[in-house]
Amino acid sequence: MNNQAAEGREVWDRFIVFEGIDGTGTTTQRHLLSATLTERSIPFHSTAEPTDSEIGRLIRRVLSGDLRIEPETLAYLYAADRNEHLYGPQGIRDHLESGEVVICDRYIFSSLAYQGCTCGLELPDRLNQGFPLPSLLIYFELPPERAVSRISGRGAPDLFERGEFLSQVSRAYEGILERFEAQGMKILRVNGARSIPEVAEDIRKAVLS
Ligand code: TYD
Repeated sequence: MNNQAAEGREVWDRFIVFEGIDGTGTTTQRHLLSATLTERSIPFHSTAEPTDSEIGRLIRRVLSGDLRIEPETLAYLYAADRNEHLYGPQGIRDHLESGEVVICDRYIFSSLAYQGCTCGLELPDRLNQGFPLPSLLIYFELPPERAVSRISGRGAPDLFERGEFLSQVSRAYEGILERFEAQGMKILRVNGARSIPEVAEDIRKAVLS
């Protein structure tokens, strides 16, 4: 399942990652893509980071403001959660090896973008360097103001769900995507401002092509 691509890393076939700032609709679209794959009897595994493991739960306590830790420590936690998510029992590697498509909501690009903004790029870059790349990255584009107005209907904002910060993250994503794109990684940018069915159709076409 492995090829070599961007930055000399392994690329894992059938590994699809959704990325975007908070509020861009990745969760909704992950569920819709899951429904499409089910209809077509294509075996898949749908998952997300942070995970619901003990490490993921610790991360969510930080996001909710219940636990305060240094931004660098949080970068380590995301990387630890990811390592387990990839290689632990019933992890992404196991699902891919059994022939499934894996759809993962957020991955290393979230760490490079978000932690890049809170503790500089060097640490998240180093912590995430050894992880394999997806064969397709779907990036949800949405102006940060639109994202914030969607999030504001959902109750108390998480640590990162603030307008000015999401604008910074959005700019950070642009740089990161350019860097991986320049090295041959396959990226589909979808305009997340359109209707849910329109976005779902773009994703369906890219995944089934
Ligand atoms: P998110 O997918 O938005 O969770 P939910 O759908 O439950 O709100 O992820 C939670 C937050 O974690 C989000 O603000 C992005 C952030 N995040 C990072 O900062 N770094 C990472 O490596 C990952 C995976 C997520």
